[in-house]
Amino acid sequence: MHILMTGGTGLIGRRLCVALTAKGHTITVLSRRPQQVKQLCGENVRPMASLDEYYPDSRFDAVINLAGEPIVDARWTARRKQQLRQSRIELTEVLLQKVHQAKVRPQIFLSGSAIGVYGDGGDALLSEQSPAGGDFGAQLCVDWEAAAMRAASLGARTCILRTGLVLDGTGGMLYKMRLPFSLGLGARIGNGRQWMSWVHIEDYVAMTLFLLEHESAAGCFNMVAPEAVTNREFTQSLGKALHRPALFVAPAPMLKIAMGEMSTLLIGGQHVVPAKIQSLGYAFRFPSLLPALTDLLHPSS
Ligand SMILES: NC(=O)c1ccc[n+]([C@@H]2O[C@H](COP(=O)([O-])OP(=O)(O)OC[C@H]3O[C@@H](n4cnc5c(N)ncnc54)[C@H](OP(=O)(O)O)[C@@H]3O)[C@@H](O)[C@H]2O)c1
Repeated sequence: MHILMTGGTGLIGRRLCVALTAKGHTITVLSRRPQQVKQLCGENVRPMASLDEYYPDSRFDAVINLAGEPIVDARWTARRKQQLRQSRIELTEVLLQKVHQAKVRPQIFLSGSAIGVYGDGGDALLSEQSPAGGDFGAQLCVDWEAAAMRAASLGARTCILRTGLVLDGTGGMLYKMRLPFSLGLGARIGNGRQWMSWVHIEDYVAMTLFLLEHESAAGCFNMVAPEAVTNREFTQSLGKALHRPALFVAPAPMLKIAMGEMSTLLIGGQHVVPAKIQSLGYAFRFPSLLPALTDLLHPSS
């Protein structure tokens, strides 16, 4: 297949490029830094600098749409919120205009979202049937999903990837947490009872390939491991995997002051189950957290 990927230079996208190329697919990555695409995504990956290069004659069999400004890099000011929305929703709308105009349209459209769509779910078990939340993060996901679902009316089998906390030893949240935990400064957040629905990057990539290839897969999918943990359990497991006890607590009121509205991402949580992909037969390589962390942090052991 010839696959067009947005966000292909990111943490998840780079891993997907490697896996898809190994399976013999041809990949084109839309990027604001096209000169870096080959270095980041692989020598055989083709860069696309702008969606203006998606011509009516261009032929892509599938699209994987992951682009978006990082959610946690800056305080959610009104300007930042607009950037977070524009980089996802507007980009998806323009992309789908191009799909609409294509003489031969892609048959498959996989598009990003996040488990933040459920808002702070407390202790409720959240499947793909659960209702959306009402905070900014949830609304961002709802609108991004709605924009992407237009692909279905253009004839593409459309899957929405409701992504949990992707664990990767080389980037993302786990990479940022590694140093303080290694120094014995690891801390539980608030009361530690909030749920963290995580997924090993290897499972995430395999799940995405599964959805790409599984002809009956369509609609929303929770992209998380089956065994979510509380923040307290996550903190303990990470301390154990790094052979360092995590004794500290980051108090919720302090995080609210330091991070503003974005602190909901840490103080709240979601207990999400990957009900739909499991019902289609996907088998997890890393269903449990401690083996996943050990694999990522001590790859040779
Ligand atoms: N990683 C997670 O744990 C997680 C969890 C939930 C949801 N997600 C979502 O899944 C998607 C992929 O995640 P990731 O961790 O791989 O993200 P990432 O590492 O931050 O990469 C995102 C990519 O999006 C592109 N991008 C950023 N801002 C853009 C803008 N203003 N306009 C156009 N493109 C822009 C960038 O590509 P260029 O710089 O090449 O243009 C970048 O490579 C994101 O939308 C993210 O929000 C991730």
